Amino acid sequence: MKILLPGGAGFIGSHTAVELLNAGHEIIIIDNFSNSNKKSLNAIKEITGKDFKFYEVNYLDEKALDQVFDENKIDAVMNFAGYKSVGESVKNPIEYYKNNISGALTLLEAMKKHNVKKFIFSSSATVYGDPETVPITESSKTGGTTNPYGTTKLYIEQILKDIYTSDPSWDICILRYFNPVGAHESGLIGEEPKGIPNNLMPYIVRVAAGELKELSVFGNDYNTKDGTGVRDYIHVVDLAKGHVAALNKLEKEKTGLYIYNLGTGKGYSVLEMVKAFEKATDQKVPYKIATRRPGDIAECYADPKKAKEELGWEATKTLEDMCRDAWNYIKKQDK
Ligand code: WQD
Repeated sequence: MKILLPGGAGFIGSHTAVELLNAGHEIIIIDNFSNSNKKSLNAIKEITGKDFKFYEVNYLDEKALDQVFDENKIDAVMNFAGYKSVGESVKNPIEYYKNNISGALTLLEAMKKHNVKKFIFSSSATVYGDPETVPITESSKTGGTTNPYGTTKLYIEQILKDIYTSDPSWDICILRYFNPVGAHESGLIGEEPKGIPNNLMPYIVRVAAGELKELSVFGNDYNTKDGTGVRDYIHVVDLAKGHVAALNKLEKEKTGLYIYNLGTGKGYSVLEMVKAFEKATDQKVPYKIATRRPGDIAECYADPKKAKEELGWEATKTLEDMCRDAWNYIKKQDK
């Protein structure tokens, strides 16, 4: 199949591009490099030995999108162009609602106009808000999001449900990511947030590399195994492979709306992540206990059973793989 990847030069998008090419699909990437790096494009080609078309386009640009759809017979779209920093979204809600929601609507409108109705959406575990119970299943209550980033994901999920209700010939898969970390084993693509990282793993990696002094652990008074926040960290390559499995499902089913948690089903605390990283990389990660971060929840991890049963997909990479690959990537960048 020929898949359009808005945001395909980004962290999740580039890893998914690799897995789609490895699985024999053709891809077209559109990206405006607002939160990604041009070098990812050559890295994808180097890793896979395959070429693909690229357009430097902002997916909010209707005319540019029309041109891409006019020039290419696209079978499905996977949208990776959403902004994804919780902290940034609290500071710049208008930017987040414009890019994530208006961008998705512009994309979906272009798809409808060109009769392309297979869509895979990068959603997030944040749509569950502060979960009542863990592990979280796809039928767990959603809503009560604690930041604009999570709210954009919740709203786009509702938009997709309304689109499907209006026209059941759409073939839609909503993938709720837990916490993506790590990098491709080649070290050629990985996570490179601009500025000071918001997320835990990129911050740990930069402390280990000596770029940042120490990690602030945001609170150790949560009702969790050691008082620090617990999350379901999933290797980005496992996550990317989940998209290939979801595409196979859409190809088989022809129409429908499907929702899956993409997580490992295991929760690790901040202190467990620090220890695992030190063990996997033999690097020290100095840290201090700081106050809680506004909007944070105590515990969040997936019940990944549905994806295993219906997609035949499950995460296989270990916490050690995640730490080792994240460290390998940053070391390659410093060369
Ligand atoms: C993880 C844990 C923090 C940084 C968000 C989005 C989610 C996804 C991943 C995109 C928490 C603690 C963190 C630090 C810390 N986004 N922490 N010190 O908030 O679970 O999820 O990012 O894919 O959709 O909501 O991830 O990595 O920011 O935090 O103690 O410097 O690490 O309190 O317990 P989060 P995170």
